[in-house]
Amino acid sequence: MRILVPDAQFPGAPDVERIPLAEAEFLVHRTADPLKIPDAVWARADGVLVWHEMTIDRAVAAKLSRARIVVRHGVGFDNIDLAACAERGIAVCNVPDYGTEEVANHAIAMTLSLRRGLPTYGEMISIDPVNGWRWQAAPLVKRLTGQAFAIVGMGRIGRAAAARAKAFGFDVAYFDPYVRADDPETVSYLRFENLYDMLGEADIVSLHCPLTRETHGLIGEGALSRFKKGALLVNTARGAVVDTTALLKAIETGQVGGAALDVLPQEPPDPDDPLVAAYRLPPSWLAGRLILSPHAAFYSPESWHDLRYKAAETMAMFLKENRLRNCVNRNLFPDGILPDNEKT
Ligand code: NAI
Repeated sequence: MRILVPDAQFPGAPDVERIPLAEAEFLVHRTADPLKIPDAVWARADGVLVWHEMTIDRAVAAKLSRARIVVRHGVGFDNIDLAACAERGIAVCNVPDYGTEEVANHAIAMTLSLRRGLPTYGEMISIDPVNGWRWQAAPLVKRLTGQAFAIVGMGRIGRAAAARAKAFGFDVAYFDPYVRADDPETVSYLRFENLYDMLGEADIVSLHCPLTRETHGLIGEGALSRFKKGALLVNTARGAVVDTTALLKAIETGQVGGAALDVLPQEPPDPDDPLVAAYRLPPSWLAGRLILSPHAAFYSPESWHDLRYKAAETMAMFLKENRLRNCVNRNLFPDGILPDNEKT
């Protein structure tokens, strides 16, 4: 059994992956460029454990002559062409259940940081401990009770964020056209059928939808113009859901009060990107209004271990027992081709 890891993010050997895949031979590479991996290596793999850096597009899928499964180390699978894989008989699976709590906590932590002014206070005191000792310095402080916390994408992470936001006293609302209105887990929250209607009511907008053709650029100039003046944007979903140039302009004009972004359209970002460049000039007009983190919302040592173990376990279940779980391109296969045991 040969497992190709094209863009390994772990240092050293695949020791966690070896727990469920003890008998496998691992072909470990660390590149985002498919051409840096010989075609013969792609062709020899029985399965691919891919991270986020390598794109499995149609051309790469065509190199996989033996593999019948690609497992994405993570939740989002926007770097994989699901249809191209299905056409070649390759199941694509993700790991949906490793870091839900971490991402929801990160979204809430970002919200609280902006609303409690922590980055501003820290920066002011580190620059000048005497003159910077000013509780008045933070621009976005507000009582949380009664503010509307609006969630775009009420899936696993959206629901976990909703429960936390409710505990802090927010009024929780959501927009997710794919969730049933009578879903018992979401009925206690205010549902909007129209995104722009919700944006007009929200004090905080927190994004938890996947990156798809539909959500690419969803929060652009048009959506930002519908924000309640001074509302905050929190993005722990995917960078390309937000047009960051439009966001910078909206913060500049005061239309948006501030933003916290764990994800950016390009990662790591170009230092000359206008939003990043403005952020790097402390203390700038953006102080206290923008928080960036390096796509870290998923991370804790515990979630990291879970992610690696569960991805390898999904691979092992399929290759050793023909059991398929968390398959995200099942609907693109003709009926009956894939093992129908998702719940096992
Ligand atoms: P999920 O699949 O459980 O939930 C996503 C929800 O978004 C679903 O309920 C779906 O119906 C909804 N949705 C889809 N299209 C939509 C649209 N156009 N408008 C509104 N809602 C829409 O996924 P989960 O586990 O909650 O993860 C959400 C996203 O978070 C992932 O797709 C991933 O991109 C991102 N993520 C980010 C991490 C980070 O470290 N920053 C780590 C893990 C996930």
